[in-house]
Amino acid sequence: MSSHPTVPTPGHSSVRIPHDPGRLPMTLPLLAEKKRLGEPLVMVTAYDYPQGRTADVAGADIVLVGDSLAMVVLGHPDTLSVTMDEMLHHVRAARRGVKRALLVADMPYGSFHLGAQQAVANALRFVKEGGAQAVKIEGARPDVVAALAAAEVPVMAHLGLTPQSLHRLGGYKVQGREEAAHQAILAAALELEAAGAFSLVLECVPTQLAGEVSDRLAIPTIGIGAGAGCDGQVLVYHDLLGLEERIAPRFVRRYAELGRESREQIERFAADVRGRRFPSAQESYGGGSGGARPAEDAAQRIYG
Ligand code: KIV
Repeated sequence: MSSHPTVPTPGHSSVRIPHDPGRLPMTLPLLAEKKRLGEPLVMVTAYDYPQGRTADVAGADIVLVGDSLAMVVLGHPDTLSVTMDEMLHHVRAARRGVKRALLVADMPYGSFHLGAQQAVANALRFVKEGGAQAVKIEGARPDVVAALAAAEVPVMAHLGLTPQSLHRLGGYKVQGREEAAHQAILAAALELEAAGAFSLVLECVPTQLAGEVSDRLAIPTIGIGAGAGCDGQVLVYHDLLGLEERIAPRFVRRYAELGRESREQIERFAADVRGRRFPSAQESYGGGSGGARPAEDAAQRIYG
């Protein structure tokens, strides 16, 4: 028999809500321990309550509210325009769903580029107003990482293809292929670790470079398009589940086709409405004053 509690929903007998009361909340020391033990880390992005809750219950170690929000949720062509206020709104929503994973908020373009003081002020907003436990910073900015660490804000660094550098890089291209670029990324990684970063995302770099950085650093690396040598892997929620259908980089493995599935199910709903097959009598309320019937009672508990 399953130990999962069930919750009644109108029109359905029940839904299963898996939970694992034995799972420890993720902390920085636990992440460091996982690196020491060679246990792969799992990071997933999420942007709202149901996504945060889904990633958390599925066992992600880290949930990142990425500035990819701009593209996969808000429909912008790149990440540059998303604001602190927009990010904060989504960090708060994800916070309500994430109970055990470490919740990391991505510092958007322009929120730390003026220097350490601006970075600390904005990072504190993520912690105090959004409930984030850490922030992520793109680029080789050890000055900013050190200031945040001094302010007790844990920092995840991010090197390689940093999408906020889109215009300087001339597009979304693999980084670190040439020897000089390889050495620059390795040196920056060591500097960011020394400045106090607790982990490092490596995006779109050759497998050999990511493996070398991962071996040289004591802090865990988390790869995206960086091969199997990293200490963990991250994918964007909408890529992993097939909700983002515009672009498909080679490093994305799609575990579902929820975009297509969603369309098909909404088409079925539309056909049922137009064919007058929805709602049925069972999906409707009776009149009279005889008090709540069992099905209505379930609906009251869900919808008040
Ligand atoms: O914004 C984001 O989703 C990210 C991940 C891809 C690491 O930075």
